[in-house]
Amino acid sequence: MVTAVHAVMEPLSPSSAAEKPTPRLAAAQPAAAAPAKPGAPAATHLIDIDNLDFFYGASQALHGINLKIEHQKVTAFIGPSGCGKSTLLRCFNRMNDLIEGTRVARGTIKIHGVDIYQPDVDVIELRKRVGMVFQKSNPFPKSIYENITYGLRLQGRNKKSELDEIVERSLRGAALWDEVKDRLDQSGLGLSGGQQQRLCIARAIAVEPEVILMDEPCSALDPVATAKVEELIQELRTRYSIVIVTHNMQQAARVSDRTAFFYLGKLIEYADTRDIFTNPANPQTEAYVSGRFG
Ligand SMILES: Nc1ncnc2c1ncn2[C@@H]1O[C@H](COP(=O)(O)OP(=O)(O)OP(=O)(O)O)[C@@H](O)[C@H]1O
Ligand SMILES: [Mg+2]
Repeated sequence: MVTAVHAVMEPLSPSSAAEKPTPRLAAAQPAAAAPAKPGAPAATHLIDIDNLDFFYGASQALHGINLKIEHQKVTAFIGPSGCGKSTLLRCFNRMNDLIEGTRVARGTIKIHGVDIYQPDVDVIELRKRVGMVFQKSNPFPKSIYENITYGLRLQGRNKKSELDEIVERSLRGAALWDEVKDRLDQSGLGLSGGQQQRLCIARAIAVEPEVILMDEPCSALDPVATAKVEELIQELRTRYSIVIVTHNMQQAARVSDRTAFFYLGKLIEYADTRDIFTNPANPQTEAYVSGRFG
């Protein structure tokens, strides 16, 4: 049986999140058999990583990671180059599956209690729920309109009025509508770098994901475009759970609620962002956030 992740990960639609605050868990998963009681407080943990070891071939990139990512919060991953931030991010929507020789050797990642590495999980559905924005903006060589509707068309959604509405809503959601509304039929590649990155965010939110993973989304942007993307993250945080990798300490401090510091494939410290930057418990965290290494 294929476990359709959409059937087990609620709330799915940002618009329905307000009416359905309680994530329902998978009836198909023994560990998550009991649906939450109506009116019960929303579970705060969206992604639950337990004792995760991850390998590229014989090389271990992640060591015993234990981390609980909270629902509708912004979580920042920080740490020196090569410490495993992108690797862990790509585990959340199984993008690492596309790299030959990779494996989760031990541990689990659960989203709303569902182990996403079970063989019966529908990976396409998972990637729809857990969208991704990359370091280098990567619009398709298509019109702005087609960039947004691409994923929807793959789902068989072709009704023009519906697509028009989603295009406008997504571009507004990505704070790009006013800049592009008169040129939706022009190529997405004709936009500035900052606009392209917001187009990619619009494309990610068009399919109404629950989680948006952002891997250094501003590293190729100038300060003005960076500020726009950061503003956008502040707006999106009310509707989505966001995990952002950044090398910019000020950015992590500005945009995130929780921060995880990694070093050499291990999670060193995970706490409220304010504590990580003002009162870290671990001396390695302190050395890193104060710029003494990395
Ligand atoms: N496709 C791959 N094949 C083999 N090893 C890889 C691959 N991608 C990453 N690694 C290794 O896994 C480790 C973690 O890499 P990762 O890209 O997750 O680090 P990172 O924290 O995102 O670094 P950066 O800040 O430079 O982006 C590194 O030792 C890296 O060399
Ligand atoms: Mg990286």
